[in-house]
Amino acid sequence: MTTTPTAQTEPRTALVTGASSGIGEAIARELAAAGCTVAVHGRDEQRTRAVAEDIERQGGRAVALTADLSQGPDVVRALAIEARTQLGGHVDVLVNNAGVYPGGPTESLDDDTVDALLATNIRAPHVLVATLAPGMAERGSGHIVNIGSWMARVGVPFMALYPATKAAVEQLTRAWAAEYGHRGIRVVTVAPGATATPGNADSADVLTAMTKGTPAGTPVQPVDIARTVRWVVSDQAAFVTGGTIDVDGGIASTRLS
Ligand SMILES: NC(=O)c1ccc[n+]([C@@H]2O[C@H](COP(=O)([O-])OP(=O)(O)OC[C@H]3O[C@@H](n4cnc5c(N)ncnc54)[C@H](OP(=O)(O)O)[C@@H]3O)[C@@H](O)[C@H]2O)c1
Repeated sequence: MTTTPTAQTEPRTALVTGASSGIGEAIARELAAAGCTVAVHGRDEQRTRAVAEDIERQGGRAVALTADLSQGPDVVRALAIEARTQLGGHVDVLVNNAGVYPGGPTESLDDDTVDALLATNIRAPHVLVATLAPGMAERGSGHIVNIGSWMARVGVPFMALYPATKAAVEQLTRAWAAEYGHRGIRVVTVAPGATATPGNADSADVLTAMTKGTPAGTPVQPVDIARTVRWVVSDQAAFVTGGTIDVDGGIASTRLS
């Protein structure tokens, strides 16, 4: 007999944060291609709208929503509520992708940067889940995908706080999978490796050097992360919850020399 841990329903609506660029944009496009109506969220209004409009041009369904997630929790809550309204009353998939990754010597990270890191990478996902998970639970199905990072489990010089925020995200995933699992919600961390995106375009040579000695040998592409997210929120992944899926070309788990 086949059993599934949760009542399975292929998702129809999704909110993807940070979808005006890079990995989030690829996820929004992939979920739209899978048939979801997607709330494309970003901070920059023009780029956010451009992604939503292009999804529509390609035959998908999308709305554009802007909000600065580093602002107070009320701004983040308002985004969640607006997304739910625009998506017809329910959000089946929440992808917590928006994130910032400033680095540098620990003593050089100023207070505003520390605040922005904590607010964007940890508090915003927490507020979004607190606002949207009860509705998913009421419907008996939902998906939360948190975008982590290979850096969460490796000590990297001049990158102390950012990986710590991603380690926090992995722990939130485990806790939310336990908290909401029996009400039909699966929660997964997808952890990218060094990925070529607009956010790190000015460090392309660093990315090349970082990935040269990995099994993949090159940076990850955003679409590779997006395809994994698409699979994670499908019924094909019915027993996948609570853990971390590395999409990193082996950077976190291997040494070739
Ligand atoms: N690239 C990598 O190598 C890598 C590796 C591991 C994990 N990750 C994680 O993957 C996620 C996406 O990274 P990426 O490289 O695709 O980044 P990116 O190209 O810089 O895009 C970041 C996205 O997040 C949004 N964002 C940032 N701060 C925001 C804020 N305060 N309020 C609202 N939106 C905000 C940006 O919006 P606007 O552009 O509209 O401002 C943009 O849509 C992040 O969580 C990052 O930590 C990336």
